[in-house]
Amino acid sequence: MSDIVKQFKLERLFADLVVLWWDTKLCHWNINGHQFSALHPLFEAQYTALDQLADKLAEHIRALGPKVPGTLSEYQKLANLAKANPVASADEMVLALKNDYEQIHSDIQDVLASAPHDNAVVTVDLLTQICSFSLHTAWVLGSNLPQH
Ligand SMILES: [Fe+2]
Repeated sequence: MSDIVKQFKLERLFADLVVLWWDTKLCHWNINGHQFSALHPLFEAQYTALDQLADKLAEHIRALGPKVPGTLSEYQKLANLAKANPVASADEMVLALKNDYEQIHSDIQDVLASAPHDNAVVTVDLLTQICSFSLHTAWVLGSNLPQH
C-alpha cells in the first residue's frame, strides 16, 4: 500500500463525504426564506454530486481491501466536520457548508503535498476530483453570501 493511502485515512474522508451529504440534504429540506428557490435545488445538485463521489471513494476503498464504514455512529466518530444546525438561517447554512468544503479541500491539499504518492495514481486522481469539486462548491456557496 502506498504512503499516501497509509497517511490519508480514506475512511475518514469517506465519512466526511457522507456527513456532508447528509447535512446538505438537511439544508435542502429545512431552508427557509427568500433564498429558498435558489438554494433548495442548488443543495440537491450538491448532494447528488457528493453521493456519486462518495460511491466512487467507497468502491476505491474496497478495491484496496478494507471494508467501508457503514453505521451512523462510525461516520460520526470518523468524520472531521462540524454538524449541521437544522434551524440555522439560509446564510448560516451556506457558510457552514462552505466551511466544510474548504476543510475537505485543505485536508486533501495537505496530504497531496506531504505524502509520497508515486504508486497511487488512482487514489491521487480520485482525491484530486474530490478536491476540485470541494474548491468549486465552496466558491459557489460563498458567492451566495453577502460580500463585505
Ligand atoms: Fe428534495
